[in-house]
Amino acid sequence: MENFSVFRTPQTIIYGRHALNEAAKESASRGTKALVISDHVMENLGYVSNIRNDLSKVGVESAIYLGVKTEPTDIYVEEALNLLKSENCDVVISLGGGSCIDTAKAVAVLAKNGGYIGDYMGGKTLASQNSVPHIAIPTTAGTGSEATDATIITNTKNDVKMMIKQPVFMPDVAIVDPMLTISSPKSVTAATGVDALSHAIEAYISRRAHPMTDKLALSAMELIVGNLLAAYEDGNNLEAREAMSLGSLQAGMAFSNASVCLVHGMSRPIGALFHVPHGFSNAMLLPAVLEFSKAECIDRLADLGRYFDPQAETVSNEEAAEIAVSSVKKLCLDLNIPNLKGWGIDQQRFESVISKMAEDALASGSPQNNPRIPSKEEIMKLYLSCYTYNFANHRVSKLK
Ligand SMILES: NC(=O)c1ccc[n+]([C@@H]2O[C@H](COP(=O)([O-])OP(=O)(O)OC[C@H]3O[C@@H](n4cnc5c(N)ncnc54)[C@H](O)[C@@H]3O)[C@@H](O)[C@H]2O)c1
Ligand SMILES: [Fe+2]
Repeated sequence: MENFSVFRTPQTIIYGRHALNEAAKESASRGTKALVISDHVMENLGYVSNIRNDLSKVGVESAIYLGVKTEPTDIYVEEALNLLKSENCDVVISLGGGSCIDTAKAVAVLAKNGGYIGDYMGGKTLASQNSVPHIAIPTTAGTGSEATDATIITNTKNDVKMMIKQPVFMPDVAIVDPMLTISSPKSVTAATGVDALSHAIEAYISRRAHPMTDKLALSAMELIVGNLLAAYEDGNNLEAREAMSLGSLQAGMAFSNASVCLVHGMSRPIGALFHVPHGFSNAMLLPAVLEFSKAECIDRLADLGRYFDPQAETVSNEEAAEIAVSSVKKLCLDLNIPNLKGWGIDQQRFESVISKMAEDALASGSPQNNPRIPSKEEIMKLYLSCYTYNFANHRVSKLK
């Protein structure tokens, strides 16, 4: 039996306040004309023109694709790829949330390898050429996509959020500057922050976790548990923003190498069919899925419980794991995360697609990494319970 683990990251990671200043230099050493893949929000914030000015100062020309909206589709990929070709760009810069970064990953790989992005799902087509150099600059904290070798693109023909994972999708450079996240509105801070927390937790409880990913996942959990609410309550709290950017990056590195599990497996179909932002759909599932999985990962959830409540050092692991689940529920409540019903999803429509969603979740492979591997029926039951899930029904720690 194989007894080794693999750990992949971008070649270069630059993080910390004003790391963005390094973007132009990194681009100049990799190409002569950059395609900046971003969106209109980033343009209105002035981020796009700033980076283009920096690029021109070091002699790098640029073209821009601003068509990304939340949850990228194969259509954005095709549009941006056509632009890359017609403008003869030889380096890709993604500037935005996970949606911009994921679009750029697909474009950078297809530019050198051809074909339809869906062909790369499940390793059906393996990329044989390196991608066009890709510099990923996240503005959310977040998806961690800047440090993962996965891209999530919706197939507009069958409404499946395709999880496509191959080493070639890893960006060459990740530039993680917390200053860019200050403009993130409350709802985006909440959704993306819970996404990062879900990455850290799922990487830590994954059946494919290993010592390299464990340390990053633990550090990420500690940073996110300690700072998410502060960043949400005061977006100008730079220490909290900085901790969230680092936590999100570490969580990305952890889950890219240890995989995500049931929460993400179940979350993608909700995103594809009901267009719930990724972080919110994770949050709507996270406490219920942890309750479902708890018995198979008591010791690991206990570590999480002790970040939420340091006084839990003295209690049993069962008790500390219970504190973890309760604390995640309370965090969702404090971040004003609704359940699926509260989001406005029609009950009849939801129930009519539960079977498809459960099948799509299983087909993604993520549920198979969960400490407790679910059947299709169990996933369907979980979807139903999450529809009306009561986040307020948490047990406040007896220790406080
Ligand atoms: N590839 C991966 O490893 C990976 C991991 C997790 C999630 N994802 C994917 O990432 C996507 C979600 O990305 P996301 O959660 O970062 O959200 P997003 O990229 O969809 O952005 C959400 C909204 O926030 C705005 N925004 C982003 N940063 C901002 C800022 N600093 N100031 C103001 N507004 C800002 C965007 O313009 C957008 O309107 C999903 O498609 C999800 O599936 C990918
Ligand atoms: Fe995620």
